[in-house]
Amino acid sequence: MGVMRTKTIEESIKETEDPEFQLKKKLSALDLTVFGIGVIIGAGIFTLTGRAAANYAGPSIAISFVLAAVCCGLAALCYAEFASTVPVSGSAYTFSYASLGEIVAWIIGWDLLLELMLGASVVAQGWSQYATLLLDKFGVTVPEAVAPGSHFDLPAFVLVALLTALIAIGIKESLRVNLVLVAVKLFIVLFVIFAGLAFVNSANYSPFIPPATAGEQSSGLTAPLIQVLFGLEPTTYGVLGIVSGAAIVFFAYIGFDVVATTAEEAKNPQRDLPIGIIASLVICTVLYVATTLVITGMVKYDKINPDAALAAAFESVGKPGYATLIAAGAVAGLMTVVMTLIIGATRVTFAMSRDRLLPPSIGRTNPRTGTPVRLTLAIGTVVALVASLTPIGKLEEMVNIGTLSAFALVSLAVPVLRKRRPDLQRAFKVPGNPVLPVLAAIISIYLMLNLSVETWLRFLIWMLLGFGIYFFYGYKRSRLHGRTDEDAREVPADA
Ligand code: ALA
Repeated sequence: MGVMRTKTIEESIKETEDPEFQLKKKLSALDLTVFGIGVIIGAGIFTLTGRAAANYAGPSIAISFVLAAVCCGLAALCYAEFASTVPVSGSAYTFSYASLGEIVAWIIGWDLLLELMLGASVVAQGWSQYATLLLDKFGVTVPEAVAPGSHFDLPAFVLVALLTALIAIGIKESLRVNLVLVAVKLFIVLFVIFAGLAFVNSANYSPFIPPATAGEQSSGLTAPLIQVLFGLEPTTYGVLGIVSGAAIVFFAYIGFDVVATTAEEAKNPQRDLPIGIIASLVICTVLYVATTLVITGMVKYDKINPDAALAAAFESVGKPGYATLIAAGAVAGLMTVVMTLIIGATRVTFAMSRDRLLPPSIGRTNPRTGTPVRLTLAIGTVVALVASLTPIGKLEEMVNIGTLSAFALVSLAVPVLRKRRPDLQRAFKVPGNPVLPVLAAIISIYLMLNLSVETWLRFLIWMLLGFGIYFFYGYKRSRLHGRTDEDAREVPADA
C-alpha cells in the first residue's frame, strides 16, 4: 500500500457520519451558485483587468478572459464529476484520495491551502486598499504606520479577524451575509457594464490586438519559466500577450472549485454541486468579458489605470461620483471573497484532519455551531498575519500556481477513477473522457509554465515543506496506516 494507498469512496462517505466530525446539510443549488459567485468575482476584475490590459493584451484582454475561462471550464467539468461522485468535504483533496493515492491527495490538499489561504490574504490586502481609498473620500484617514503597504496592514488584519468570527458562528449565517454582499457586487459589475456602454468609443478598439513589441521587465527570476526553458524573446502584446494575459487574469476565476469544498453541507450534492460550480463560472465569464469590453472601449489601452481600472475609467469620463460607488462596491465585493476562501481553507484542512494527516483534535466540529471552530480560528490567524505582514503584489502568482497544479491533478484523476471504479454512480459525467480531462490538464500546465521562475522556486520550497510534513507526521498517523489491502476491500461491503 504505502504512499499510494487510496481510501475508497464508500469509506469517505461513511466517515462523514461520524458525529464528532459532522457538518450540517443545509445548502441548496442556489446557495451554492451564490457562494460561487461570491468567491469568484473579486480582486481579479476590480484590479487585475486594468494591469493585464495595460501591460499585456490591450482590448484583446477580453480574449484572455475567454481563454482563462476555457481552462477553468474544462477543469470545472472535472470538478463537477468528482463532486457528484464523492460528495465529501475537502474538494480536490478528497477526490484524489479516492483515485490517485494518499501522497497525491496530500500534495493536492497542500496546493489547495496555498490557493485558499494565500488567496484570502491577497484579496484582504486588495480590500484594505479600496477601504482606505473609500474612507479617504469620506474624510477619514488611516494612519500611515498601519495603512496598506506599511509594515502592518491594520485594515486587512481587522477584516480577516471579523470574518473569521462570523464563519466560526455558522456557515448558514455567514452565507446569509454573503447573499447581501454578492447582490451588491453583482449590482456594481452590471452598473459598470451598462453605465459604461454610453462612454464606449469604438476607436479605442483599434488595434484590438496591439502589435507585439519587445517586453522590458521580464528577465531573470521574473521571466516566465517557458521563456527561460525555450530561450524565447520576451514580448508584450500580440498573440503571446493574450496568453500571458490569460495566465494573469486566471486569478479572477479562482474560487469556483471552492464550491466543491462544501459538498457535505449540500442538501442534494449529486445534483446541486455540478449546477453550483458550472452556473457560477458561466455567469462570471459573461460578466467579465462584458466588463473588459466596456472598460477597454472607454479608455485607450495604454491609458488604462493599472491599479483601479474600473473606478478610474469613470473618473476619466468626468463621473467621479460613479467612481466612489464602484469603490464602495469593491469594498463589499472583496469582503465576500476573503470570507469564502477562508471557509474553503477550513473545509480542506477539516478533511485532512479527519484522515489524521493533520492532528485530528484540531478538526472536531463544535456541537453547538456544527462548524470546526478551532480549525477556523487557526486558519483565520494565519491568513490575518500573512495579509497584514507581507508586501502587496508578491503572492498572486503563488495562488495561481497552487490552483493550476490542483486543476491538473484533478483533471488527470477523472479517467483514473473511471477505470478503477466503473461501477460508481456518477450523477454528472465529463463528456469526451479521456480527451477533455487530459486537455484540461495540458492547458493548466501550459498556463503554469507562463508563470515566473521566481514563483516556481517558491512553489518548490512549499512542496518540499509539504513532503516533509507528510513523511514525518501524516504517513504514520494516517487513518489508513497499517491497514491491509483486505481491510480496504471489506469496507465497501458494509458501508
Ligand atoms: N477570483 C477571486 C478574485 O478575483 C480570487 O478575487
